[in-house]
Amino acid sequence: MRFSAFVALSVVAGVFASPAPQEESPAGRPGGGVRCPNGRTVRNRQCCSWFAIIPQLQAEIFNNQCNKGTRRVLQTFFHDAIGFSPALTNAGQFGGGGADGSIIAHSVIETTFVPNRALGPTIEALRAISIRNSVSFGDILNFANAVGLTNCPGAPRLEFLAGKSNSSQPSPPGLIPGPGNTADAILNRMGDAGFSHDETVDLLSAHTIAAQEALNLNAAATRAPFDSTPAVFDSQFFIETLLRGTVFTTGGPGFAEVLSPLPGEFRMQSDFALARDPRTSCRWQSMLTNSALVASRFRAAVAKLSVLGFNRNTLIDCSDVIPTPRAQINSPRIPAGLTTADLEGFCPGTPLPNMVVAPGPLQTVAVAAP
Ligand code: HEM
Ligand SMILES: *[C@@H]1O[C@H](CO)[C@@H](O)[C@H](O)[C@H]1NC(C)=O
Repeated sequence: MRFSAFVALSVVAGVFASPAPQEESPAGRPGGGVRCPNGRTVRNRQCCSWFAIIPQLQAEIFNNQCNKGTRRVLQTFFHDAIGFSPALTNAGQFGGGGADGSIIAHSVIETTFVPNRALGPTIEALRAISIRNSVSFGDILNFANAVGLTNCPGAPRLEFLAGKSNSSQPSPPGLIPGPGNTADAILNRMGDAGFSHDETVDLLSAHTIAAQEALNLNAAATRAPFDSTPAVFDSQFFIETLLRGTVFTTGGPGFAEVLSPLPGEFRMQSDFALARDPRTSCRWQSMLTNSALVASRFRAAVAKLSVLGFNRNTLIDCSDVIPTPRAQINSPRIPAGLTTADLEGFCPGTPLPNMVVAPGPLQTVAVAAP
C-alpha cells in the first residue's frame, strides 16, 4: 500500500516539472484527491477554498437563476478575455492581456468602451466578491461565469482553472466585436484572438441566454431576448436566427437591428450576417437540432477563451468545484405560429433537418428575466 502510493506520487511529480502543487492520494481513494472541510472531494487541496464563494455569487449576483446577473457575467467575461490581439503586439503595441480581469482592475478605462457601458454594476459586484475572498480578478471572472451558467438548464459544466495573477494593464480599445460589424470584421477580429470560424459560431451559443438592453434604448426592446428561451441553454438561438424576419421589435430599424421573426425578439445585424455567411452558415445549421452538441462545443470554445493570454499548464484545475448545471428538457422546435417554410437554409448542399413545429398561435416573446 505504502509502496504503491509512493510510486504513484513519484510518477505524478515526474510529469510536472514545474512547482505545480501536488497532492497526496489518501488510501482508499484510488482516483486520488483530498477531502475538503465541507466533505467534498477535489483533486487539489488548493481548490477547497472556492466552495465558499459559490453561495456568495448566488446570493449577490445570480439569485440562483439564469437571469440578468448570469447574462451580464458571461458578457463581462467575454469582453475581458477578447481584449487580446497578437496583431497589435506584432505591430509593436500592447495587445492586451486576454482573460486577465483587466475589465475589473481598470474598469475606469474599460467601461468607457461602448460595449461595456452597461457592465458597471456587474463589475462592481464581482470586484467586491473577489477582494473579500482574496482571489484575483481573472479568476473570479472565470469562476463566476462557470457558476452562473449552472443556473441555466442545458448549459455545459465549464472548466475552471484557478491561479491567475492579479496584475493586468488596461485592454487597448476597439477589440470587442460590435453588432454593426460585418461578418468579415467579426471573423477577422476573432481570428486575430485565435478563434476559427467554427469556434466563433460555437462561442455565439452564448446568445441563447442573452438579451439586449444597452444597444437600443427603445422601451419596447428593454431586455428583448435573442431567442424565445433566454433562460435556457438550448439550440433555439440558432433556429430562430434562421427564421425569415418579419417584424422590428422596436417598431423600426434601430442601430444594428434587423427584422426579427417574432414580436418581442431582438435580432442583431451581426447574428443575422453570421448565420448567413458562407464561412459560418454550415456550422450554424449544424447546431439546429442538437442542444447537447451546442453545449459541448461552447464548453470547448470557452475553455480556450478563458485562458487567452495565459499558459493553461501554469494554472490549477479546480473544475471539480463547479456544480452540475440543471438539465434541459425542451426539444428544439419552430416557435408556435410559424412553419418549416419560414426556416431559411444557407449551408450549400446540406438540406435543413426535419424540425418539430410547436402548436398554437404566434406569441410575443417575453422579456428576459431582470
Ligand atoms: C462576436 C460577436 C458578438 C457581438 C457583435 C455581440 C454583441 C452583443 C450585443 C450588442 C449585445 C447586447 C448588449 C446590450 O444591449 O446590453 C450582446 C449581448 C450578450 N452577449 Fe454578445 N456579442 C458577440 C459575441 C458574444 C460572445 C462570444 C459571448 C460570450 C461568450 C457573448 C455574450 C453575450 C451575452 C451573455 C449577452 C446578454 C447580456 C444581457 O442579457 O444583459 N456575446 N452581445
Ligand atoms: C487585485 O488588485 C486590486 C487592485 O487592482 C486590489 O484591490 C485587490 O485587492 C487585488 N486582489 C488580490 C487577490 O491581490
